[in-house]
Amino acid sequence: MIEKNYKLSPSILSADFTVLGAQIKEAEDAGADWFHIDIMDGHFVPNLSMGPVIVEACRRATNLPLDVHLMIEEPERYLNNFASAGADGLTVHIETCPDMEKTLNLIRELGCKAGITLNPGTSEEKIQPYLENVDLVLVMTVQPGFSGQSFRPEVLPKIGRIRKMLDDVKPEVEIEVDGGINPQSIRQTYEQGARVFVASSSIFKHPQGIKAGIQSLVDQL
Ligand code: DX5
Ligand code: ZN
Repeated sequence: MIEKNYKLSPSILSADFTVLGAQIKEAEDAGADWFHIDIMDGHFVPNLSMGPVIVEACRRATNLPLDVHLMIEEPERYLNNFASAGADGLTVHIETCPDMEKTLNLIRELGCKAGITLNPGTSEEKIQPYLENVDLVLVMTVQPGFSGQSFRPEVLPKIGRIRKMLDDVKPEVEIEVDGGINPQSIRQTYEQGARVFVASSSIFKHPQGIKAGIQSLVDQL
């Protein structure tokens, strides 16, 4: 069997929350590797989503890693809550962390993998000083805030540039992409070096269901 060289991290943002546990189970059976949980505060992004209580519910629904994306101001205030709720990875935005080194160290001290992320309009130079100290780099391929937005192809060259930067300092770190990932864009981001793929609407809103949504993505890899 050929070992797969990618991970799929379905974002539960577009799931049916009346049957969240069943949807998580269905995605897991269809080949999900992680689950991505989008935390929004109505300040850093113009939307509100969920908090530690949902992370805790997901923790009871699956043993797969929980990949928590913090789209919130002052994320350091809540890291402990999300770690206690069962997060395996905590990813913070460069735009929200004045002392990124300290925030990344705090995440590790809490026993979580430390991820750094940047918006489509933010240059990779901003994250460069921290690459030696991260476990994951998340590249946003939409402006964060909502599921169901269109992929921004102008971000593709930045993925390739970050891949090269990582190869120089910490080659084992993977690039995750998030936003507008569908059967076409997943392949384009893969070719630039992304290996962890977040997708919400193309999985949870697929007309033929979750399994078909996951299959349509995996078929491109
Ligand atoms: C956007 C979130 C994404 C979102 C992706 O702010 O960070 O994780 O759920 O949704 P799709 O895959 O529908 O673009
Ligand atoms: Zn996300």
